[in-house]
Amino acid sequence: MGSQERRRLPMTTSAAASSSTRIALRGKVLTPTQAGPLRYLADGLVVVDERGKIASVSPWSEGRLRLPVLDVRPAVITPGFIDAHVHFPQTRIIGSASGPLLRWLESSVFPEEAKFRDVAYASAVAREFVHRLRSAGTTTAVAFSSSSPLATQTLFEALDESGLRAFAGLTLMDQACPEELRVARAEAIEACEALVARWHGHDDGRLAFAVTPRFALSCSREMLRAAGDLARRHRLRVQTHVSENAREGEETLAAHPYASSYLDVYDQAGLLGEQTILAHSIHLSPREWDRLAEAKGSVAHCPDSNFFLGSGRMRLSEARDRGIRVALGSDVAAGRSFDMRRAIASAYDNALCASVETSPAELFAAATLGGARALGLETVTGSLEPGRSADLVTIDLPGYVEGEDAVLAQVAFGSDVAPVSRVYVRGRLVHRAD
Ligand code: GUN
Ligand code: ZN
Repeated sequence: MGSQERRRLPMTTSAAASSSTRIALRGKVLTPTQAGPLRYLADGLVVVDERGKIASVSPWSEGRLRLPVLDVRPAVITPGFIDAHVHFPQTRIIGSASGPLLRWLESSVFPEEAKFRDVAYASAVAREFVHRLRSAGTTTAVAFSSSSPLATQTLFEALDESGLRAFAGLTLMDQACPEELRVARAEAIEACEALVARWHGHDDGRLAFAVTPRFALSCSREMLRAAGDLARRHRLRVQTHVSENAREGEETLAAHPYASSYLDVYDQAGLLGEQTILAHSIHLSPREWDRLAEAKGSVAHCPDSNFFLGSGRMRLSEARDRGIRVALGSDVAAGRSFDMRRAIASAYDNALCASVETSPAELFAAATLGGARALGLETVTGSLEPGRSADLVTIDLPGYVEGEDAVLAQVAFGSDVAPVSRVYVRGRLVHRAD
């Protein structure tokens, strides 16, 4: 991005920066906890202070509180969902079925992402994107933009207005893609610097810039090194794809012959560390898993996408046994829904098909606190515990749903009968179902 284009990036004021007031919600409560097990209250009270932080979570008792209480019963209050991997410029192509990964990128994705050079188009889709996230109950998103700096600016503006928490980055691609999407290294890094200066840490850390090489095939070695350097200089999160598809893996090693494995391409560029979230991680070798654990990187498990593109089955146990943090991602538009409960359902199916043990509780935790841990934000969001930001949702339940197991089943799998009704970030209502 040249200096002229940078000057055209408009400054925005934060519509979401308005301060919260103290609120209290009464309903069922279901949350993962830092200590381990889920906590369930059949009739609970969540009190939020004026800074938008959770002051207390307790069983309901009559007559203690001088605060107006919003009674959401029979709804359940849970942490908001964290979508650890989603593509903003693919919002309008959900369901575009054109085969496995590389063919799908070529036929369905790249033509759509090229449209994002048109700022009016990007800005319209950015509004749709944040609406889809909010109405699904996602309170934190980790998003890829397109390779267009101005489209990425529109994404940040929409995220700012939405009130959501988000990490987002310009998608880096300097090779093996259509001309319209290719942005040379110097120009792309300059654009990232401008976006970091404008948005990283915005609104007291609600928005952050993430270094986003698309994947090893679409980046030269020099681009990957520059991305690693950018992340190190500004202490930024890194997001990319790894080992999603067998053919992609073969082509990656051919394109980066100096590397000993797919993961090693990123490792050699300084892109692998505690700050890194790797989507998919399906075909990693045991050595790569060991290296990922040693480097303390996280995985964004995207099971619905893996089914849609026939990419294979990520073995949750490979990560779990090594203490690797696992978040869940919708991976829209390879994933067919923004609803993280659909990701939970696909993760459950995936684990059973791969003969890996899991439970709705483990996957609900992965879609909330797991995402926060992958981002290093577990003291900020991801659970309903005192001191955490009031990033929470209410989920309507039919009256017959009683007891922890039944409530968990609806929260994890029941979007149809148990829709999200209210969404709060920092105690501020950011979405309400009509
Ligand atoms: N690998 C590189 N780009 C993409 C993408 O947009 N979606 C998925 N699922 N995998 C990718
Ligand atoms: Zn993806």
